[in-house]
Amino acid sequence: MKKWLKILLIGLGSLLLLALMAALGGWLYLRSNFLYFEQEYPELAALSTLTVNGYTFVDRNSNGELDPYEDDRLPLETRADDLLDKMTTEEKIHLLKGSGMASGLGLTEAGDGIPGAVGTIVPTPRLGLPTLYLSDGPAGLRIQPVREGEDRTYYCTAFPIATMLASTWNTDLVHRVGEAMGNEALEYGIDVILGPGANIHRHPFCGRNFEYYAEDPLLTGKMGAAMVNGIESNGIGTSVKHFVANNQETDRHLNNAIVPERALREIYLKGFEIIVKEAQPWTIMSSYNQVNGAFASQSPYLLTDVLREDWGFEGIVMSDWFGGRDAVAQIKAGNDLLEPGTKKQWKALQRGYENGELPQAAIDNAARRILKLILQSRKMEGYAYQNNPDLEAHASIARRSAAEGMVLLRNEGALPLQQEQEIALLGVTSYDFIAGGTGSGDVNEAYTVALEAGLKAAGFAINATARQWFEDHKAAHTAEFVKPEGLQAMTQPYDPPEIDYTDTQLEKVAAEADVGILTIGRNSGEGGDRVEEDDFLLSAQEQSLLERACNAFQSADKPLIVVLNVGGVIETASWKSRPDAILLAWQGGQEGGHAAADVLSGRVNPSGKLPMTFPVQLSDHASNANFPLEGEPINFLNLLMGEAIKPKAEQVRNRDFTRYEEGIFVGYRHFDKAGLQVSYPFGYGLSYTQFAYSNLEVETGADTILVTVEVQNTGAQPGQDVVQVYVSRPESGTEHPPQELKAFAKTPELEPGATTMLKFHVPVADLRYWDEQQRKWTLQNGIYQLRVGASSRDIRLEAKVEL
Ligand code: BGC
Repeated sequence: MKKWLKILLIGLGSLLLLALMAALGGWLYLRSNFLYFEQEYPELAALSTLTVNGYTFVDRNSNGELDPYEDDRLPLETRADDLLDKMTTEEKIHLLKGSGMASGLGLTEAGDGIPGAVGTIVPTPRLGLPTLYLSDGPAGLRIQPVREGEDRTYYCTAFPIATMLASTWNTDLVHRVGEAMGNEALEYGIDVILGPGANIHRHPFCGRNFEYYAEDPLLTGKMGAAMVNGIESNGIGTSVKHFVANNQETDRHLNNAIVPERALREIYLKGFEIIVKEAQPWTIMSSYNQVNGAFASQSPYLLTDVLREDWGFEGIVMSDWFGGRDAVAQIKAGNDLLEPGTKKQWKALQRGYENGELPQAAIDNAARRILKLILQSRKMEGYAYQNNPDLEAHASIARRSAAEGMVLLRNEGALPLQQEQEIALLGVTSYDFIAGGTGSGDVNEAYTVALEAGLKAAGFAINATARQWFEDHKAAHTAEFVKPEGLQAMTQPYDPPEIDYTDTQLEKVAAEADVGILTIGRNSGEGGDRVEEDDFLLSAQEQSLLERACNAFQSADKPLIVVLNVGGVIETASWKSRPDAILLAWQGGQEGGHAAADVLSGRVNPSGKLPMTFPVQLSDHASNANFPLEGEPINFLNLLMGEAIKPKAEQVRNRDFTRYEEGIFVGYRHFDKAGLQVSYPFGYGLSYTQFAYSNLEVETGADTILVTVEVQNTGAQPGQDVVQVYVSRPESGTEHPPQELKAFAKTPELEPGATTMLKFHVPVADLRYWDEQQRKWTLQNGIYQLRVGASSRDIRLEAKVEL
């Protein structure tokens, strides 16, 4: 054989061998990380019961006796301790990690599991402890809607995104949303919902801001607590995430957030603190990122000192999926449960125990907390779920909360629409509404009501010419209008192209219809951050369309309304004066189109207010100096395979580490301090009526300042208003934000002329600041100003108190 041929063959052979080895390695890696490895621990067999003194109990370990842990009259602690005594260390270690992602991928060998569930708490069949299922997420339960070989479906309700729920400023309503969401979990056999999210909107570009409530920790905390209490009223757990300082998706598995302690305490931890104190959630999810040099899931400071010792958290901490690097360090730090759990972690824990690195006490602490959760669960109670939640009732809660979360940004007399008007709908999004963001915060809902369908159902005529152009456009771009599913929906989000209208076309529909509505859509999601071009800013095509549509309609003496179907902040300052009205419809879940029609038609008077600032320009945000502005395209590695991403030697700013140099000056705290103009301030939102505030009274007690104020509807429509109480601290050597939100309330619906009295309790302890020198909360003496407003930039009444 020729020498060159020999070399070629050897080369090709080696390449083939390498490829085979890589494929095998990949398969083994996937197998130990993703697939089911629970064969050693089969599912529960049927359990017998026993009757003692007329009460019936489940004899979980089939020993014919009533063991303390089986006796649900005893305190949880006693029952958990009994279980702990009965378990071997091996069984306890087994409990500290889930069983991989097989259930969610429908890959369990036994064919059991709940398709779409992303994690489990493993069973202990010897003691009759069942498997618990964990599933996403913040906007509604996320499970797989279709199961192989079954005709029926398992759809869940897509509620409005968290940011939109926060825009309602209505904790009772959010509680109701939580009740409905938790009920779906209960009825579909899921034990813990992986939400709500409580990270702060540090910068508008974080791809997951839509899953989080606000730029302010008080609003975040109150909304989160209402949601947790609502969900958990069903006997279903929550996992409040992502603890903590997970404010960017770029390099999320490694990023080291370098946060000054005051900012950490006052801004990033504060929302979680309120949730823990007001709702004591069953679980908290530690975040992927590092905080000041330690992975959040491996930080004893965060998980033990702050969470448990300072705040009294009693539940379990679970890791984010594949988060952290060192299983033993995680358990030792107080991260009780590793999710979804890998074989590698299981082995590491066993090894750690054998070589003494993982003390028995750490195993027992974590196992005890997990056992308490299991004992509390409805599964343990034997709740027989039927897979039939009342989706219709939940859809009406979704619609109601979406309508209340819409924010009317501008209205020059164009809204509400007159009945029987014909509407020309422009922009693809008008016909194809976006229900929510992508990634684990997405929901598999049965349908999404588009704006078109909503307006039609509300009795409006839809201009047929504009509708036909949409149909033609869609037919010309069939491939781009196919909605991706599953993992593809996460990595290649749906983003169909916009329609190119000519001037003549716009003039034609302006002549035919009474009103024009142009919808602008945006989406983002887990694993990637947003960018300025064509995202925060309108694209050149959108700018031109907006300008020309305004011209066409306004020169025909007809209004042009802009609807924003977005998940986060976009630039508005440069164009907001052009349309006659702007409705920020957010992403309203599956009923978004009905809810938008409710508000546009005046059936619901808008009462939503902004949970964040809309800046004039991006660079006005103090955090802009230290945020990854170039964006991160969503990719599979970044989504799931965190463990496989290796730290690099060279540390790149805003990727590998991010300095929170702005400290506590996040959102309005910064805009107010810097005296910057904003496009729309924090707390802002219009109504179809007006409200007047009067008779502010302030009473200072030992622990609480009681603020009362009268609110009157002085306009012609019934409506609700959100009233905000900001506090300014006395001047001192320490730098403070000019004002901070310390309380808020929403009025009931007030008829024209009607008055209501709102009461606010401001705990004196909430007026303290974190003293970095002394490392403690400190109350400053002096005169505090209480500022009552309709937004952060519309303060109507003020009073002073001396503390
Ligand atoms: C997300 C979590 C989610 C988990 C399970 C992770 O990638 O960060 O928010 O709960 O996946 O889906």
